[in-house]
Amino acid sequence: MMTVAGLLWGAASCAAQTPQLGKHSIDRVIGAMTLEEKVQLVIGTGMAGFSGDSAVVGATQNLVPGAAGTTWPVPRLGIPAIVLADGPAGLRIAPARTDDPATYYCTAFPVGTLLASTWNSELVERVGHAMGNEVLEYGVDVLLGPALNIHRNPLCGRNFEYYSEDPLLSGKTAAAMVRGVQTSGVGTSLKHFAVNNQETNRMANDARLSDRALREIYLKGFEIAVKESQPWTIMSSYNKINGTYAPENRTLLTDILRGEWGFDGIVMTDWFGGRNAPAMVYAGNDLLMPGLPQQYETIVAAVKDGSLAVEELDRNVRRILELIVKTPRFKGYKFSNAPDLAAHAAVTRESAAEGMVLLKNDGGALPLGPGVRNIAAFGITSYDFISGGTGSGDVNEAYTVSLKDGLANAGYGFDTSLAALYQAHINAENERNKPDPDNPLAAFMPRVRAAEIVPDKARMADAVAGSDIALVTIGRTSGEFADRRLEKGDWFLTDTERTLLETVCKAYHAAGKKVVVVLNVGGVIETASWKALPDAILLAWQAGQEGGNSVADVLKGAVNPSGKLPMTFAANYLDIPSSANFPYDHVSEKPVFFPGGEENGTSERNIDYTEYKEDIAVGYRYFDRHPQGISFPFGFGLSYTTFEFSGISVTPGGDGYTVGVTVKNSGPVAGKEVVQLYVAAPGATADAPDKPAKELKAYVKTNLLKPGESQTVELRIAHTDLASWSDAADGWMTDRGNYTALVGSCSQGTLLSAAFEVR
Ligand code: BGC
Repeated sequence: MMTVAGLLWGAASCAAQTPQLGKHSIDRVIGAMTLEEKVQLVIGTGMAGFSGDSAVVGATQNLVPGAAGTTWPVPRLGIPAIVLADGPAGLRIAPARTDDPATYYCTAFPVGTLLASTWNSELVERVGHAMGNEVLEYGVDVLLGPALNIHRNPLCGRNFEYYSEDPLLSGKTAAAMVRGVQTSGVGTSLKHFAVNNQETNRMANDARLSDRALREIYLKGFEIAVKESQPWTIMSSYNKINGTYAPENRTLLTDILRGEWGFDGIVMTDWFGGRNAPAMVYAGNDLLMPGLPQQYETIVAAVKDGSLAVEELDRNVRRILELIVKTPRFKGYKFSNAPDLAAHAAVTRESAAEGMVLLKNDGGALPLGPGVRNIAAFGITSYDFISGGTGSGDVNEAYTVSLKDGLANAGYGFDTSLAALYQAHINAENERNKPDPDNPLAAFMPRVRAAEIVPDKARMADAVAGSDIALVTIGRTSGEFADRRLEKGDWFLTDTERTLLETVCKAYHAAGKKVVVVLNVGGVIETASWKALPDAILLAWQAGQEGGNSVADVLKGAVNPSGKLPMTFAANYLDIPSSANFPYDHVSEKPVFFPGGEENGTSERNIDYTEYKEDIAVGYRYFDRHPQGISFPFGFGLSYTTFEFSGISVTPGGDGYTVGVTVKNSGPVAGKEVVQLYVAAPGATADAPDKPAKELKAYVKTNLLKPGESQTVELRIAHTDLASWSDAADGWMTDRGNYTALVGSCSQGTLLSAAFEVR
């Protein structure tokens, strides 16, 4: 008969035989896993009827309510579930929980496009660190961001989440964000890898492009970010690339990402992305999110029938375990659920002000002088500020500071009866436009915003008499699931917005008073037809929850604007080369997550497939040769001071060249400047359009320079940075010959130049 001691010994020896993650080697843990456990680990827990957690688009109730998903725990092997949550502008979790009086608000930081407009890696890193701290303190392990798809076309509905039309600026900004978040002890997920440049039919669209455009434009930013910041994870995109779904693309996920770039983290799918689960495992897409029962079944079947080698599965399992052991949840971190939201509000306020771009400032309209005491704020968005875009890039923040409140906080008086008029109108409109409570997607879609109004003549006369200056705020919002439209109210001003702008400008100018336009937008809008009307234009972007305070800081001059455009503002949409192949006029009959696509027998241009016929001619790479089509150029942004650039030098050494230049603040107030280094390659002549006229190769933001103060900066270019992709050679090639380094504060206008030779 077995004694009690014998029983205990038996149990202990059994436990000793069951390896535990963290205590025993990953090899031993994998060796102890059943096929079923392995397959469960490579797909998330969002499997209705399988794990008990229901597969809601981007929201789980597991562990951290409102997070996007969790991985599968295997308690007998000491493998915990880890938590993944959006997104690029701050952590997205549910702000309230059932039977819990506490709140779980997160900070809405500025959208990605604004952060890229700072051209300030150190600042972006600080934003990332604050964001990462909220991830850590709310019990989340991996933040699903940053997002760095290229602004191929200004009407992509998610451009606000993304950084730039330029891969270098995108890659450097993403690298800074990853470093910042990960220094808080949590992971990131670079997304959406790759060539995810439209929302229309995003789950089945086939992006068709040359290897050169793929390498130079669409992969380059990811390459930079992977090499410079080693993100814990990467999220593959929904779309196909030249016929193969990104998550099923082994060349992309294994040969290029890991083989060429040295990525050692995990790749996860976008939510419900990809079709063929065993193909995804084989491609090196380690984790399938949020996880579906048929994925489980097909992978188990494929291993059993030998069509998927178990080694492929084991490799992905190993990478997921290597990720899990790094996470705070695995390490038993006791999160507080109480991050320092006040400190993070200060970070978002500062970063938002630094990314705002002063597009026009005639007659020194800004900063507001001592004579300006009372302000009349026109435009719905002055009272209902848009802090960010919608969809998974949204954040559940506790508040958003409106422009009106920001101005009041800065000590300005404003026209209160005008404010009352707008508020009453906005309340009535919001009631009328209430989202359909029976539509579960409504929370993800841009809400219908109040229609613009034009105050009547008498009201306008009162406003002019009672204020020293007018602001006219124009707002736009967009988000996941839909692209923007080439329509009034989106790309174009509505008739009412135009009338409002004209009426206000006429009335204020007649009284010798100035008008400032504030653009509260997530992406490019048409500006060429109206930019002559106001005295100043401040591009405030979607500036996060402290937006109104950040705008007021810039208007008042507490912050001297130093943001620069991360994209070209084209005068005419149809001049943008990609607009010939973009669904700007498509009205969708079906929600995007029920994909069409060639598998389903449809083959509609720009919907089921999109041809990237413009190739590498994206943004300034096209407009440099067609400057007449530019409304505001790439890299452009004014300051309240002036800067002089001098003493350019190019010194060869090491693996490339060092370009030096001195920047002097030659104006009246302290300010920062962005030093932009472009390089023109030997073939970059007007009659040899194979090369762009010039390309951004490095940039740096100066310190805050006092009037009269100078700073000498050094920018590095490696030989490899000068290479172009050669489809013929199937590789990167650096041409020999004479290059020109061009340095300045914008892609257009005066640039200092220096020649150098590559032998
Ligand atoms: C989006 C991703 C996001 C995921 C989880 C998807 O719909 O495309 O960017 O991270 O949902 O919410």
